[in-house]
Amino acid sequence: MPFPEQRPRRLRVNENIRRMVRENSLSVNDLVYPVFVCHGSGLATPVDSMPGVYRYSIDILLKNLEEIVKLRIPAILTFGLPAKKDAAGSGAYAADGVIQQAVRAIKKEYPELMVITDLCLCEYTDHGHCGVIQDNYVVNDPSLELLAKTAVSHAAAGADMIAPSDMMDGRVGAIRSALDKNGYVNTPVMAYSAKYCSAFYGPFRDAADSAPKFGDRRSYQMDPANADEAIREVRLDLEEGADIVMVKPALAYMDVIRRVKDEFGCPVAAYNVSGEYSMVKAAAQNGWIDEKRVVMEILTGIKRAGADVVITYHAREAARWLRDGM
Ligand code: PBG
Repeated sequence: MPFPEQRPRRLRVNENIRRMVRENSLSVNDLVYPVFVCHGSGLATPVDSMPGVYRYSIDILLKNLEEIVKLRIPAILTFGLPAKKDAAGSGAYAADGVIQQAVRAIKKEYPELMVITDLCLCEYTDHGHCGVIQDNYVVNDPSLELLAKTAVSHAAAGADMIAPSDMMDGRVGAIRSALDKNGYVNTPVMAYSAKYCSAFYGPFRDAADSAPKFGDRRSYQMDPANADEAIREVRLDLEEGADIVMVKPALAYMDVIRRVKDEFGCPVAAYNVSGEYSMVKAAAQNGWIDEKRVVMEILTGIKRAGADVVITYHAREAARWLRDGM
């Protein structure tokens, strides 16, 4: 029975009826707030390409997390800026590394806040790649050892979840067995499973000072043209023990989020990355878009695509808007 019996607009006539039939909604429970931590004290250095984002020293980070906890954002995702870098990225797994110190301090002050640690070497290596370099190539298996060691040091510092973002083959399995061997059987792994080699990471690399010094990441991150490959990557990570799988970036990869959700029905995270954030901020600063509405539309769209967890630099402001009922 088509028109005139069928009139889809009937279910749109007022806000109450729209609320009744709404299929998806964003909640504060869905959000993860990424933070950048550096050594020192009293520091909040703005990231020029990411308005509203700062690199915090641990003391200032702790002050900022008070609002995050009050807003009931369940989790943060930490990125570290080491004091110095070397070829083996030793700052990543140093017992007194910036992340290890930060996690201990955060868990002491806010035991209920979930701390997810991004696990990668690119912020810690002097060459800026996510693994060990031999003959200008990122070698896979030697990198696994360092990643597993880093995971254990994060868990030892009190990390609630480990999020490997390096895209080496076999890293989830290596990390899982290292965690288990060291008694961290209940520490989940959220794997950056379908992580694309994306130009949308540009602002992040300013923030984390992690741009590769030579070449690019195409020999380990995925080709943006591929989606079947994402399914294979996710399957491998699940087989290796990933608890949550991630698609990254989010906006140009909504189809991949949906396919992963449909294919595996497992918890899926999507990373609304730095370039996606900065584009919105730049347009908003120019008065070209309604920032609040655009942000909420983007985050709800990512959920509708199939994400259970949305990692976003907008988390704090989105949580405020949700609290205030927009
Ligand atoms: C580290 C890492 C990156 C991001 C998260 N973890 C950068 C990269 O792979 O170059 C990007 C996050 C963002 O753009 O917001 N490997």
